[in-house]
Amino acid sequence: MAVKYNWATYGVGVIGHQLAEAMNSLGGSLYSVGNRTYDKAVKFAREYGINKVYKDPEEMFTDPDVDIIYISTPHNTHIDILKKAIANGKHVLCEKSITLNSDELAEAVELAGKNHVVLAEAMTIYHMPIYRKLNEIIAEGKLGPLKLIQMNFGSYKDWDMNNRFFNRNLAGGAMLDIGVYALSFVRWFMTETPDKMATQVRLAPTGVDEQASMLLMNEKQEMATIILSLHAKQPKRGTISFEHGYIEIYEYPRGDEAVITYTDDGHTEKITAGATEEALQKPEMNGDSSTRRKKYEKKRQRSYRF
Ligand SMILES: NC(=O)c1ccc[n+]([C@@H]2O[C@H](COP(=O)([O-])OP(=O)(O)OC[C@H]3O[C@@H](n4cnc5c(N)ncnc54)[C@H](OP(=O)(O)O)[C@@H]3O)[C@@H](O)[C@H]2O)c1
Repeated sequence: MAVKYNWATYGVGVIGHQLAEAMNSLGGSLYSVGNRTYDKAVKFAREYGINKVYKDPEEMFTDPDVDIIYISTPHNTHIDILKKAIANGKHVLCEKSITLNSDELAEAVELAGKNHVVLAEAMTIYHMPIYRKLNEIIAEGKLGPLKLIQMNFGSYKDWDMNNRFFNRNLAGGAMLDIGVYALSFVRWFMTETPDKMATQVRLAPTGVDEQASMLLMNEKQEMATIILSLHAKQPKRGTISFEHGYIEIYEYPRGDEAVITYTDDGHTEKITAGATEEALQKPEMNGDSSTRRKKYEKKRQRSYRF
């Protein structure tokens, strides 16, 4: 029998809306919502048919009916929020970057272990079906051993030093905002953890990394390059090169298509799996979106209380 969990969301920004939309389109709904600005939480609840809004978002930590807390506030706030959630026995799905550094993450993981709860980062790379499919193809061995990986990610953000992309107090910078996608991709395909790294950075006036580049290598001498920019567009492109071919994947954070070129004879193969527009939904639910949308429309008509 399927178990139903009650999800609370902390934060109602851009990605918070996408999660609520995804829940609704699967025929479900978030259980409750809390936000720094209460009025926005009220509006959000109305939009997505959520029954409960907290005056103070911290009330969700001690709400006995909440099972899972989804955190979608800026990076610098994650550690405090997730520690309070975990200490109160709530499972946590936290937006990327889950923490600002590995010390914070180690502390959070230890706390989650002590409290017997699941702590997960909302990193799409690890959940898009295309990545599992590519691993199956790589495991067949036709491409040969992995040699190198090249990653681009460039996002043009307004030159506003107060927004979360450039504001140092909100843990801005390319690495924490978009670099984590590229690094997660690299870690998915590299067969061992990289143990050598060289970096270069161009700083924004606030001191955060406006542009960053990394060169990584592991003991097997598999190499990866990552180049990031927050004020210059680049294609979101990943290339994985093996002895007998290479894989290209575009829009990789939510990718659903890759092209493999087998270099011994030059033939190519297009691989598809999952659906970019359904990236925040369960992979096995990809497909049949019309049924879900009908349910979602019904759900939107439901009343709410707070
Ligand atoms: N997985 C993905 O595909 C994806 C995509 C985009 C973003 N993200 C991640 O999601 C997080 C939020 O990004 P976003 O683009 O949704 O941001 P956003 O639109 O700026 O929304 C930020 C939310 O956090 C709240 N907030 C801001 N400062 C806060 C503070 N000091 N304490 C508590 N709450 C605070 C805001 O509340 P107010 O309403 O009061 O301002 C708002 O609800 C970031 O970690 C980002 O990296 C993930």
